[in-house]
Amino acid sequence: MKPKSATFVISASEPSQFPPPSLPEVAFAGRSNVGKSSLINALTGHGSLARTSRTPGRTRLVNWFEVDCRGMGGPAAKLGKIHFVDLPGYGYADVPIAMRAAWQPLIEAFLGERSSLRAVVLLIDIRRGVEDEELDFVPWLVEKQVPVVVALTKADKLPKAQRLPAAQAAKKALGLKRDPILFSAQDDFGREELWRAIASAAAAAEKKPA
Ligand code: GTP
Ligand code: MG
Repeated sequence: MKPKSATFVISASEPSQFPPPSLPEVAFAGRSNVGKSSLINALTGHGSLARTSRTPGRTRLVNWFEVDCRGMGGPAAKLGKIHFVDLPGYGYADVPIAMRAAWQPLIEAFLGERSSLRAVVLLIDIRRGVEDEELDFVPWLVEKQVPVVVALTKADKLPKAQRLPAAQAAKKALGLKRDPILFSAQDDFGREELWRAIASAAAAAEKKPA
């Protein structure tokens, strides 16, 4: 199950550079180095669409990708053409304060005011679990009525027996209705389940009156 095409659209370092909200959007958020760009590449099946890096804080801009889901198997096909939005990671201690101060308004401007936003995929490193940032972030999104899908990344790094307990702990800590999705870009699992969750969150958001 792979989209027909996935292409880079534009990068923005400030809200004035955001493209028009012409397509439904799914944003990917999470701590720096959590695996956002790798997950986007795994979901789209286009190896080097989003740049990945061992150096935390690599993605400093908001990046848009156009993803054509038509012809995909399962509920994802109903998404049609959408935008994936790769957000800069939060919580990277080594960036200068001035730079961090520039990112937060950028992320908030996007997540708080974007009419085309249908869902946020929040990535949490399975070994770190839920931390203060996520405890603040999830209720903020809920208040803004943005559907959240939680993915636990790098699940390959945890022994199998510890994965479900980690998912249950995250679910409880964040008060989620749905189970977080176990995901590994390296071992290629969780992909189909995540596509289904994205499609269902986006469809629910679509039905909501504006
Ligand atoms: P920033 O853009 O810097 O915020 O990072 P990011 O969240 O986009 O993370 P990225 O996808 O660049 O991955 C960071 C590092 O984690 C890279 O070295 C990846 O190879 C590694 N990584 C990503 N996903 C996985 C995974 O599923 N398993 C393992 N073992 N490593 C992963
Ligand atoms: Mg990145």
